[in-house]
Amino acid sequence: MESDDRGGTLRSARVLIIALVILIIVPGVALITAAISRSVAPADDRPANVLVNSTDDCVTCHSRTTPGIVEQYGRSTMASANVTCTNCHEVAADYPGAIEHEGTFVLNSPTTAKCQTCHQSEVAQFYQSRHSLPAYVAMVGEDELSPEHLAMYQSIPEAELGPIQARSVLFELEGDAITQFACASCHNIGRPHLDNSVGECQQCHLRHEFSLEQARKPETCNACHIGPDHPQWEIYQESPHGIAYMTGGDNWHWDAEPGTLSVVDFPAPTCATCHFSGFGASGTTHDAGDRLTWYLFAPISERRPVWQDNMVRMQGVCLECHNNQFIQDFYRRADEGTEAINSLVVQGNEIVTPLQEADLLTSAPFDQPIDFVAYELWHHWGRTAKFGMWMQGADYVQWHGAYEMLSDLADLREMAIAIFEEAGLEPPDYPVEPVTAQMSSRQEAMPDAPESAEETAETTLVVTPEAGE
Ligand code: HEC
Ligand code: HEC
Ligand code: HEC
Ligand code: HEC
Ligand code: HEC
Ligand code: HEC
Ligand code: HEC
Ligand code: HEC
Repeated sequence: MESDDRGGTLRSARVLIIALVILIIVPGVALITAAISRSVAPADDRPANVLVNSTDDCVTCHSRTTPGIVEQYGRSTMASANVTCTNCHEVAADYPGAIEHEGTFVLNSPTTAKCQTCHQSEVAQFYQSRHSLPAYVAMVGEDELSPEHLAMYQSIPEAELGPIQARSVLFELEGDAITQFACASCHNIGRPHLDNSVGECQQCHLRHEFSLEQARKPETCNACHIGPDHPQWEIYQESPHGIAYMTGGDNWHWDAEPGTLSVVDFPAPTCATCHFSGFGASGTTHDAGDRLTWYLFAPISERRPVWQDNMVRMQGVCLECHNNQFIQDFYRRADEGTEAINSLVVQGNEIVTPLQEADLLTSAPFDQPIDFVAYELWHHWGRTAKFGMWMQGADYVQWHGAYEMLSDLADLREMAIAIFEEAGLEPPDYPVEPVTAQMSSRQEAMPDAPESAEETAETTLVVTPEAGE
């Protein structure tokens, strides 16, 4: 009995120990296996680094000095296509900007001219766009350009006809020490180079991945298209298209072959789909203005040259997912909305102009509170409202747009009257009725919904650019 009992205790002790061992080891092993498979899984999704066994001098040495660059570049499509470091970096000794390096000459920052040797059409389209020299001129003005670059700038139809070309006052006012971190970070996308080429492709194709997925995702555009004066990123996030991207985008075909994209690859559009991608009936472009009908960024929006053709290309994208009537109706309403915002900006000008005519404003810009209010009226809120209409951001049309404009108009009126009174002058008869009343009476005068695209074109052409300064 005793021995049996002892045997029983021993047995149950053994069972207990085995159970404990199982309890500890089995989950432990499971955890470790899970951890290993988790750490391995993402690596499987990425293309292999094709440069791992490379004997190229640049690669072998840079695997030690800048391993991050080799690691990134090794997984790119270009590396698989045997494009080498030297294809982009190596230049002749007398090339503008060349630096001597390890027995040869290299560019520290390869220019667009280097990309152009293999990507002629992308570069040609980019050069025609406002992402090239116009973006730079918007910051520093035309006077900074070399004769070659000036000629190039003047050959861009949408640049010379664009509304604003003067050297920007704020750029001057804030000074280089600040603007190198501000305006330049965004507007250098169109910066001129010593070798006469222009621009920074790497702003959307971040080195050294040069990935399509990255350029197609809206976060890439968000580096610049953000903030109170051009909140395209914020607007996109609240649009039905942006919601589709944020909730389902993980499964979209980010690496699909360019030029042939369809709703199968992208069930809803990103910035790139509407403005760049070959999608539906519209071919791929690197000219960001190729599908736009208005100069929305201008204080008072006017039509672009050949805007009807541009419209067909944008609508070619929409029509892949929406029916024709829906899109025609949307364009008609967005045209109306654009003109309504124009008219609010005109009302702002009508308050400020009498002050200028009576010589009651200083000639210096941005030295009086009224300068800021008048500027924000169109530069922040007017633009934002227009962008919100065209890209489906209701909150930006309303609370960060039209509402702020109404509030600024009231402020402008009060400030203007105070300035007149301070100068001992009778203020002009500023209209006091609510602006919205004026808007609705204007809208009653609008013709009924047009039947066709041509009719839309005619009814919306009558834009009054009277106060386009
Ligand atoms: C023997 C090693 C070695 C070789 C071979 C080599 N590099 Fe480098 N490279 C370096 C080092 C080290 C630096 C960093 C220098 C520094 O920080 O000042 C560098 C810097 C650079 C830079 C940046 C230059 C700058 O001034 O910031 C570029 C671009 C570059 N290398 C490209 C190349 C290319 C292209 C090749 C092949 C033609 C190459 N390198 C070959 C070691 C090498
Ligand atoms: C498709 C063109 C291209 C290829 C191929 C390429 N680079 Fe570059 N590289 C660039 C561009 C563009 C920049 C400048 C980016 C900038 O100024 O922001 C750059 C910058 C650099 C720099 C300076 C970066 C820094 O942060 O200081 C180094 C070093 C460099 N590349 C090394 C290499 C090496 C090594 C290879 C090959 C493994 C390589 N590059 C392949 C385009 C290329
Ligand atoms: C020596 C020729 C050459 C040069 C120089 C070159 N590329 Fe490429 N690039 C290629 C080739 C080849 C491909 C791959 C085409 C393919 O397989 O679809 C490619 C593909 C690309 C892609 C698409 C990547 C993808 O995943 O499909 C981008 C973006 C790109 N290059 C940008 C640039 C930029 C920016 C520069 C200049 C900084 C540049 N390339 C310089 C030859 C070049
Ligand atoms: C965060 C990036 C960013 C910063 C910082 C920035 N801009 Fe811009 N700017 C843009 C973008 C994006 C547009 C295009 C807006 C549009 O078309 O909707 C633009 C448009 C403009 C325009 C109107 C377009 C034209 O060609 O007339 C001017 C002028 C301008 N910016 C000047 C400046 C100046 C001057 C500064 C600095 C005081 C500055 N910007 C700072 C991104 C930026
Ligand atoms: C404003 C952002 C932006 C800039 C700047 C830009 N790209 Fe692109 N690029 C894109 C987008 C978006 C795509 C993908 C289009 C698509 O969905 O098929 C693309 C695609 C490409 C491709 C793949 C083939 C094709 O044409 O679709 C090449 C090559 C390329 N870019 C080269 C360049 C070069 C060279 C430059 C500089 C002149 C440049 N890109 C500047 C946004 C940009
Ligand atoms: C590095 C900054 C930067 C990035 C990144 C950038 N943009 Fe721009 N973009 C600008 C600037 C600056 C302008 C205004 C140029 C001007 O009007 O002078 C602009 C203008 C535009 C315009 C108006 C063009 C016109 O003709 O008026 C469109 C559309 C546009 N960008 C789309 C995009 C898209 C889509 C992306 C992402 C794929 C993108 N941008 C990425 C800086 C940038
Ligand atoms: C559903 C398609 C669509 C998407 C998605 C979209 N846009 Fe737009 N975008 C438009 C349309 C339509 C217009 C106005 C076109 C016109 O003038 O006819 C516009 C206008 C613009 C402008 C104004 C150009 C000017 O005249 O000042 C910029 C800049 C711009 N978009 C950038 C972006 C960026 C950045 C994103 C992503 C964050 C984006 N867009 C997403 C369709 C789209
Ligand atoms: C790749 C497909 C796709 C493309 C291209 C596309 N859309 Fe959309 N769009 C959608 C989806 C999906 C929705 C969300 C539908 C919903 O709200 O039920 C949507 C919603 C909308 C809405 C809001 C509808 C509502 O009832 O609130 C408008 C307006 C719109 N799109 C306009 C456009 C315009 C204009 C273009 C072209 C410039 C365009 N879309 C291009 C897929 C697309």
